[in-house]
Amino acid sequence: MSAIRQVSGDERLRTAFTLYPYAFDETPSPAAVEDLRGLLPYHEGNHTLIAEEDARTLATAAAFPAWQNLRGVVSPMAGIAWVATHPAARRQGHSRRLMRRLHSDMVDKGHRLATLFPFHPSFYDKLGYICLPQNPTATFTPEGLAPLLDVRLPGEVRWQNIKDGFDTYRAFQRTLLPRWHGFTYTPDYRAARVLDAANRWLVTATVGDTVAGTMTYRIDGYGGALIVDELLCADAIGRALLLRFLAQHAHQVTTITVTVAPDDFPETWASGLAVRTEAETAFPTAPPLMARLLSMEALHGAHCGPGRVAIEVVDDQLLAGRYLLDGSGGTLEVSASGTGERATLTAAGLSGLAYGVLDPLDVVARGLGEITDAAAAELRSLLPRRVPRSFGKG
Ligand SMILES: CC(C)(COP(=O)(O)OP(=O)(O)OC[C@H]1O[C@@H](n2cnc3c(N)ncnc32)[C@H](O)[C@@H]1OP(=O)(O)O)[C@@H](O)C(=O)NCCC(=O)NCCS
Repeated sequence: MSAIRQVSGDERLRTAFTLYPYAFDETPSPAAVEDLRGLLPYHEGNHTLIAEEDARTLATAAAFPAWQNLRGVVSPMAGIAWVATHPAARRQGHSRRLMRRLHSDMVDKGHRLATLFPFHPSFYDKLGYICLPQNPTATFTPEGLAPLLDVRLPGEVRWQNIKDGFDTYRAFQRTLLPRWHGFTYTPDYRAARVLDAANRWLVTATVGDTVAGTMTYRIDGYGGALIVDELLCADAIGRALLLRFLAQHAHQVTTITVTVAPDDFPETWASGLAVRTEAETAFPTAPPLMARLLSMEALHGAHCGPGRVAIEVVDDQLLAGRYLLDGSGGTLEVSASGTGERATLTAAGLSGLAYGVLDPLDVVARGLGEITDAAAAELRSLLPRRVPRSFGKG
């Protein structure tokens, strides 16, 4: 029987890292241990677990400590990554055991939420995760933004390499964290990956002394494509300043592709902008983010509508139990519940309601709970649908 333990520092090289190239890269390849050593700083604060037998690493899973906004409440979030099992040890339950241990370790460290990019959602469905909406990309020509060039706007833009603007970029992300439901702020040691690569430009829009928007991007060649990672703006002025900068690339690039929030509508950005907005989901190459509550504490203080309902969470080692959700004060109160009519929810069902991506009827239709009409009406009012902006992956 394999044993699970935590590894840290250089020990990762001889244990967890031995599984990464095969699981995630093109192999076989002559990738030297030294190449992997160069990645160590980006794992510095990760909680890395391995399953081992006779000193051989059979499987691994890790989590980085991040922050995420859930309905206005910012909580510590575990970013689960680097889940891999040796090809000869697969389908023996190693990853499932590692995930359970990772969850309980991260709860012990105070994390209330968890997210990951799945290789296949069914593996994580059973572990309580629900898919969040994919951020679409909008593709258009720089000429399509020409109407913005004539608009008088307050503010200005600054253009620099991400290496020089990293602190500004991160500071702006911190201002979005308390504002955007679903937004994630990753730890510095992980976000610093963009610094070493230094393969992104950063544009910062400011109005007065206030940053109103940032975007990182790259250009793949003369006459080619300009690809923006995430369009982050505090308001429409910030966005217009950034788009006007993009418009200046007419006759240099042919197309511009921008990753936007699912509730953004690029066709409204400029009159007559011809744009293709699309979101592809594919496994394992283009997965949507999956998320779950690790603790009911994540719901305390969440912005909610009026309502009061008893729920029972079933089939989950972390959340199983009975609770009363009360929104009569304008923010959510969660307490241990007594008796009465209640909705029965799996962890994935509750997570779908909490993140605002499922209506109570969706929960029933997906087999993620049993909810009476009366309880559904209360839940719908308490936790109305919301679109998470799962930006800030870093
Ligand atoms: C994905 C991976 C980590 C699974 O590890 P594993 O140790 O074989 O997983 P487990 O044995 O714990 O399986 C747990 C459950 O997932 C299911 N599962 C495992 N691999 C699966 C696959 N490729 N497709 C669908 N389901 C799968 C198992 O059937 C099991 O479900 P069950 O208990 O209901 O039968 C492993 O195949 C791997 O290293 N793949 C390459 C890297 C990768 O994709 N990592 C995941 C990144 S999110």
